[in-house]
Amino acid sequence: ASLRALDRSVPRPHRVQDRRLPIGDAVQTEFANVPDTDPALPGNVAWSRDILARVQDSTAGVATAEAAVVRTADALDAVLGSAEAAGRGWGSLTGAERGAVLRRAAVELERRRAELLEVMASEAGKTLDQGDPEVSEAIDFANYYASLAEELDEVDGAVRRPVPLTVVTPPWNFPVAIPAGSTLAGLAAGSAVVLKPASQAVRCGAVLAEALWAAGVPRDVLRLVRVGESALGRALVSDPRVGRLILTGAYETAELFRSFRTDLPLLAETSGKNAIVVTPSADIDLAVRDVVYSAFGHAGQKCSAASLVILVGSVARSRRFRDQLVDAVTSLKVGLPSDPTSQMGPLIGPADGKLLRALTTLGPGESWVIRPRQLDDEGRLWTPGVKVGVADGSEYHLTEYFGPVLGIMTAATLEEAIAQQNRVAYGLTAGLHTRDAGDLATWLDRVEAGNLYVNRGTTGAIVRRQPFGGWKRSAVGAGTKAGGPNYLVGLTDWAPASASA
Ligand code: ALA
Repeated sequence: ASLRALDRSVPRPHRVQDRRLPIGDAVQTEFANVPDTDPALPGNVAWSRDILARVQDSTAGVATAEAAVVRTADALDAVLGSAEAAGRGWGSLTGAERGAVLRRAAVELERRRAELLEVMASEAGKTLDQGDPEVSEAIDFANYYASLAEELDEVDGAVRRPVPLTVVTPPWNFPVAIPAGSTLAGLAAGSAVVLKPASQAVRCGAVLAEALWAAGVPRDVLRLVRVGESALGRALVSDPRVGRLILTGAYETAELFRSFRTDLPLLAETSGKNAIVVTPSADIDLAVRDVVYSAFGHAGQKCSAASLVILVGSVARSRRFRDQLVDAVTSLKVGLPSDPTSQMGPLIGPADGKLLRALTTLGPGESWVIRPRQLDDEGRLWTPGVKVGVADGSEYHLTEYFGPVLGIMTAATLEEAIAQQNRVAYGLTAGLHTRDAGDLATWLDRVEAGNLYVNRGTTGAIVRRQPFGGWKRSAVGAGTKAGGPNYLVGLTDWAPASASA
């Protein structure tokens, strides 16, 4: 991220202040990842403090989120009908025409960076350092899918045919980047999109939709809906008019959706239980840094988070990694995102169920190196926990928890560590810290996960550079990796040659 530093206090000449102006040079035409905000630059400190001052009383997205509530089956039917009809018109545009709208969406999202950070902190508890890369990622999705839309035009005379209607059901943990990525992909591929934001993050979805509408996405081509009751939710995801459904959520949710409609054209990115392996040749300082960020960034509530670290051979026997880890984790300051000194924010809701169990109990052979403590009455603010003695095949080893708790496992050899990584039913991300080329080759060959990261943390895939998507129970249905070159293909149909043009 430090390579993507930018001082936001310096006015950038390409910023468009009036959205009615022609797009001109505000638009990025060659794909390049946009920079994150560098928090160390003096101008950005003031910029951040202004945002934080607004977090507690934020009303961003409130009105739009209210207007999105759909209360009856008839109202939902009307939304789907009008979106499907609008999608036919949108899909008849060229990819270049749709791409031009997406490139303006990138500009609108950049203009709303501060507002998006405010609403993510206010509604979803995201600290600014966690929210900022999300905005960059959303912008990257807009620019990248714009370029893919343009390429769709170039495939031998319209071989792919848009589907009129795509429904997007994102999670709350990346309340901007994931709905943005899925929605922009659907739009780029020529579909109208009905976006149903996660119930914990409706205002984030609303601000995102406002940005896309401001960029010129027609209101009936992008619909924001909230369905209060589960019968309507079921009607939404199982409606036969839905040509694609992009879900990011739990594996069980994907299975539930498929039980509603067996021929559901689903692209689902699902659960994970991700581990970072640290080998004897690793740079321990770097490994500790990456494990801490991957395990406790956004309080461990990322599908890509590392909730296990597997120490190999002499790393397991020496105290060095463990001592440094304990130092680093105990120094993390937990607090509300409105407090600029907070390094780890709250959980999305009170810890309960299996997460509460993971934070408060130990399995056989396990012990706390750092025991988590609840800091508030509600149960949303917890200090991070680290446990050792996690056994191969234990409940902790195999279960996804979505919270600030890290388990340490040990392995005599890299092969044993890989077997432990692969034992889980999921295969989303996997990390390796090593400086040994042989270990690297072995691991790359055998580890079963969609995104493999070497000498890096396991979260925060960068659009185009690190297309994101899982393996095993981390992916359900069709579809390739989000932010990668083939993603739009999965959102379109084959067109018979006679129907092309
Ligand atoms: N794309 C998100 C990440 O890489 C889930 O962390």
